[in-house]
Amino acid sequence: MNIQEIIAKKRDNKKLLKKEIDFFIQGYTKGEIADYQASALIMAIYINGMDEKEITDLTLAMVESGDKLNLSELGNVVDKHSTGGVGDKVTLILAPIIASLGIPVAKMSGRGLGYTGGTIDKLESIPGYNTNLSEQEFINNVKKIGISLIGQTLNLAPADKKIYALRDTTSTTESIPLIASSIMSKKIAAGANKIVLDVTYGSGAFMKTKEKATELANTMKKIGELAKIETAYVLTPMDEPLGRNVGNTLEVIEAVEALKGNIADDVKEVVLELGSYMIKLAGKGNNLENNKNMMLDNIYNGKALEKLKELVKNQNGDVTFIENTDKFKKAEFIYPVILTKDGKEVEGIISELRADEIGKLSVFLGAGRIKKEDKIEEEVGIQLNKKVGERVNKGEVVACIHANNKEKAEIAVEKLKNIYKLVDKNINT
Ligand code: URA
Repeated sequence: MNIQEIIAKKRDNKKLLKKEIDFFIQGYTKGEIADYQASALIMAIYINGMDEKEITDLTLAMVESGDKLNLSELGNVVDKHSTGGVGDKVTLILAPIIASLGIPVAKMSGRGLGYTGGTIDKLESIPGYNTNLSEQEFINNVKKIGISLIGQTLNLAPADKKIYALRDTTSTTESIPLIASSIMSKKIAAGANKIVLDVTYGSGAFMKTKEKATELANTMKKIGELAKIETAYVLTPMDEPLGRNVGNTLEVIEAVEALKGNIADDVKEVVLELGSYMIKLAGKGNNLENNKNMMLDNIYNGKALEKLKELVKNQNGDVTFIENTDKFKKAEFIYPVILTKDGKEVEGIISELRADEIGKLSVFLGAGRIKKEDKIEEEVGIQLNKKVGERVNKGEVVACIHANNKEKAEIAVEKLKNIYKLVDKNINT
């Protein structure tokens, strides 16, 4: 067997055998197969696709490329994973709610890359919070307080890490076999035996349509079944950002407010939908509506917020920042945004607020990374007072830009004015 033959086979739209997929993954992880050969094979997969058996073989080969976490001593661990979004602070809200219901949450989250944010960056904006724990500390935390949220400290699915980096630079990201195997390999290696997937679609997601998102979701569910992991999914629109804030500290503040009961409708819907399935998979309730009510109860009685504080304290974070979010450092320049056309204030109903454009703008401000090594600025971002479907009157502040650099703040204000589209005869849409 050699890699040229495997590339040629997929180039000619033939199915790959398990041993060929294993040969590729093992060889590439060890550095015996070159990046240019891996790129050619990935492009052939992107163009010609894979069937379910091939995708499962690819996923399991990636799982075997590195460490596997063994969470069996924790019992039924239900994990949650999103395919990516802008303003997505769901884990920060959902995980404490679920843990407050007595269901163990042992979750490894990622950092933001490109214009989508990552939970670990958000958690690290809480002073002192330690995302870098050993496997045993992680497990002990869950045993002690029922929840731990950490970064990927172990060498989980290193093949995915290498392939993901290649895909990012070869325009092969938006491929169902490649996304499904990438996500499921990490989840299987992270030790959960049940998974709820949040599969996003729209301008701010990898899948642009609901049909494609459904196909991706069903593919991941099938891989889960074949790997003996019970998998459920929820489809979430990501045409505009989720919630009101985009940016790390800003999103932590929004999450704390949500746990106090001040939760934006779209965030609430996603949190309740995902959570109701997590509770079901954990064997704590088959009726999804009852499950949602249990979650709401623990928001309104304060138990979920208490669990977040316990989590922060237990991972060395300064809990006084959660108790009083005014303590978080503010960006140096906070500029209001008022919509104008030809210098005149305009009014109307917001018809579009593209999530990808907002995501790119937040990266421009310093809230995200273009390259893995980039340093983020925790306090910068965008606060969206107005979203799609809402009315804007003349002179009303639709958003605020939070920036640490005056010039960037001014540019961002102008950019944001163009991202907001209004339906009104006074403005071009
Ligand atoms: N998230 C992942 O982990 N991998 C992908 O390919 C896409 C989203």
